[in-house]
Amino acid sequence: MVDRSGQRVQKMFGQIAKHYDFLNHFLSCGIDILWRRAVVRRMKPEFEADSKILDICTGTGDLAIALWKRWRIPVVGGDFTPEMLEIGRKKLQKKKISPEEVFLMEADASAMPFRDEEFQIVTVAFGLRNVHDTRKGLSEMVRVCREGGKVGILEFSIPTFPPFRWFYLFYFRHILPKIGQFTARNQFDAYHYLPESVGEFPYGQELARMMEEAGLSEVKFFPMTFGIATLYVGKK
Ligand SMILES: C[S@@+](CC[C@H](N)C(=O)[O-])C[C@H]1O[C@@H](n2cnc3c(N)ncnc32)[C@H](O)[C@@H]1O
Repeated sequence: MVDRSGQRVQKMFGQIAKHYDFLNHFLSCGIDILWRRAVVRRMKPEFEADSKILDICTGTGDLAIALWKRWRIPVVGGDFTPEMLEIGRKKLQKKKISPEEVFLMEADASAMPFRDEEFQIVTVAFGLRNVHDTRKGLSEMVRVCREGGKVGILEFSIPTFPPFRWFYLFYFRHILPKIGQFTARNQFDAYHYLPESVGEFPYGQELARMMEEAGLSEVKFFPMTFGIATLYVGKK
């Protein structure tokens, strides 16, 4: 089993933070940007007074920024790794996005510092897999989401179509970790941890069922790019 303890995950992301954005785009050939766009499109808010969006495990804030740009509703981006948030804040300054528009703050996905039903939309991209207790992370996302609101989860999955699956798994398990470790040296071998944690994490129907057990209904999932990533959407 991969060690997903909070302290280890936090230190690991702290050590790779500087290289995170570059490697994300480089290793996925920029497709990660399209995946986040798909999340934004599906997470259309109702434009009610006081509507707010939460993007948890926001990292350097890419999804939080994309949600703000598209829907113009205040977005809170929460993450427990200060080094990732710091890079996100610099990005916001550069893009002239104010803290009233996108506010990045420290927050643990397993014990969120937010009121019940505070947000209309709650998202997480490539974050839930890293949360030590997946069910706790899910139940926190549901708790802070308003009745009638939506929870969206973007996460890696494993392609099923055989020739593509073989090619992809070879790249994901053998090539990507070497490029990752060479570029962003870190004591935790974060880019080996990536395929290992994906291999152990539920996807497709299994994750959809866990979302329902956490209190969501009408859960749908949308595999993208031959199933390399999947977007899950549920209603509270
Ligand atoms: C792979 S990155 C994803 C970042 C961003 N969402 C994206 O799409 O690029 C995972 C992020 O989850 C954060 N994270 C992991 N476990 C967490 C937890 N329990 N609470 C808050 N953040 C957490 C890490 O600090 C890291 O920034």
